[in-house]
Amino acid sequence: MSENSVAEYQGHIKRVLISEEEIQAAVKATAKKIDESYDGTPILLVCILKGSFVFLADVCKAVTVPCEVGFMAAKSYYQSTESSGNVKITMDLSQDISGYNVIIIEDIIDTGRTLKDIVNLLKGRNPLSLKVITLLDKPSRRVVDFKADETLFSIDDYFVIGYGLDYGEKYRNLPYIAEYGE
Ligand code: IMP
Ligand code: MG
Repeated sequence: MSENSVAEYQGHIKRVLISEEEIQAAVKATAKKIDESYDGTPILLVCILKGSFVFLADVCKAVTVPCEVGFMAAKSYYQSTESSGNVKITMDLSQDISGYNVIIIEDIIDTGRTLKDIVNLLKGRNPLSLKVITLLDKPSRRVVDFKADETLFSIDDYFVIGYGLDYGEKYRNLPYIAEYGE
């Protein structure tokens, strides 16, 4: 079978872990909390690319109070003994975040390294407040101490795809979260 055959592609979608309906209900509840937190000071939703683009899009469509969006991309370079400080920002925010309530919108927290470093970096830029909302968390995989302010779904140690998350850059367009299987 060719590497790009539809049958092979679909064969790696082992099972649906979180359905489209479950995700959408959780996204609406999260957006409602953002609405309720609004105190008249500016909100900036920060999307960590690429994995969070679908989640960010759905959250921002469900929010009804004024908000802006910003985009960042990061790559981690780690050796096994290192704990943090090796996240390279490959694309930075284009706006000054002082004066904003920054809400980082993340797809998944695995070792915790990426977000720990991004949070430290953004805190240094003096936002009014800083919060992290993650769609998924794999707490059993944590290497550095990091906890999101809000987690929509905690999962066991599966490699997951869909709803923005990829395997080899594919599967981001699935509307649900599935387990990837060889
Ligand atoms: P970490 O928390 O620094 O280890 O990195 C988290 C990043 O690794 C996420 O933002 C994802 O891009 C990627 N990642 C971790 N687990 C998965 C997974 O199960 N599927 C797809 N990407 C993952
Ligand atoms: Mg990510």
